[in-house]
Amino acid sequence: MFNKLFQNTCKPRGLGGKMILKMMNSGHARLSDWGLKHLQLKNTDHVLDIGCGGGANISRLLESCPDGFVAGIDYSEESVKCSRKKNMDHIGKNCEIRTGNVSHIPYRDERFDIATAFETVYFWPDLYENFKEVRRILKPEGYFMICCEEGDPVNDKWSEKIEGMTVYSIIQLADILKSAGFAVVQKDEKQNGKWICLVGMKK
Ligand SMILES: C[S@@+](CC[C@H](N)C(=O)[O-])C[C@H]1O[C@@H](n2cnc3c(N)ncnc32)[C@H](O)[C@@H]1O
Repeated sequence: MFNKLFQNTCKPRGLGGKMILKMMNSGHARLSDWGLKHLQLKNTDHVLDIGCGGGANISRLLESCPDGFVAGIDYSEESVKCSRKKNMDHIGKNCEIRTGNVSHIPYRDERFDIATAFETVYFWPDLYENFKEVRRILKPEGYFMICCEEGDPVNDKWSEKIEGMTVYSIIQLADILKSAGFAVVQKDEKQNGKWICLVGMKK
């Protein structure tokens, strides 16, 4: 039963999806706070959160960028619904949440200062192509932050349970970022390399 429920981390659907989204909003709070410390967010920044899930990270970004703009995309309708509900006071003002796949981000070239990806790259279909797509929507010298709670590919505790999940090491992610046209400006680990955070700057 739990295994079935956890499939929803990949693409939340229905009632199980709703439950997982709520759990992730609270369960990922410490990781997100740690990850966000690696960015120097400005009041006026325009930020895109990719794979926004239940929308808690959009709320955090809105707090840090009150005079900017925060968008979220997710390919799950359930995630989009939950993120919109969580951030409803901002929607139509300084926030927009759309259904969208990282393979084809529904925004024009150089639209954002910063892009974030919390707990989601495990499920992306082609990291090299997807990182190039993230690079496309960033301004020159814009930043792309990746933050994961699982950074040890040898530990298959979750990847064994969740279909379509691949755990990458910090080295693997840094190499792909570099080949996709980013300079890796931050690489950090916590919990003995379990939590990882990388920041790439668009070259
Ligand atoms: C484990 S959840 C993490 C949600 C949120 N970022 C957080 O930290 O709580 C992964 C999310 O990424 C989304 N996702 C996975 N692959 C995606 C893709 N190719 N394009 C857009 N969203 C994707 C899923 O639908 C899900 O909402």
